[in-house]
Amino acid sequence: MMMLVTIHAVLTMEAAASSLMCRAEDHVYYHEQLGGCLNCEPCNPGEEQMDIQKWAASIPSGIFTIYGPTQCPTCITCREGYFNSERAFQCTRCKNCTLHNKHEVEQCSSISDAECDGVLIDKR
Ligand SMILES: *[C@@H]1O[C@H](CO)[C@@H](O)[C@H](O)[C@H]1NC(C)=O
Repeated sequence: MMMLVTIHAVLTMEAAASSLMCRAEDHVYYHEQLGGCLNCEPCNPGEEQMDIQKWAASIPSGIFTIYGPTQCPTCITCREGYFNSERAFQCTRCKNCTLHNKHEVEQCSSISDAECDGVLIDKR
């Protein structure tokens, strides 16, 4: 009987802990004072959230609690060939005008997509 009670208590605690887990993948972090998950802010234009594994390896392990990290992943500049023109967690791949048989009139930057002109290149 005592055994069953103990098992039940352990299972209940595990269920409580897992439902309280704040996952960086879900764009939330664990707020210690509130004892709950809060939303991360999206990154500024030109930036995206760092790869979560790389981020986790680059910061002090003290921020990781059993309820999840107490900080959000760092935002870094979009990779070459990617842009973020608004506030978002991820950069988007830039358009490739060549693949659409069009001339590029504006190069892709970290905050804006490439722009192609409307003229199809004659490939005959
Ligand atoms: C577009 O695609 C072509 C063909 O795959 C490639 O050679 C070129 O480097 C690409 N340009 C950009 C800007 O990604």
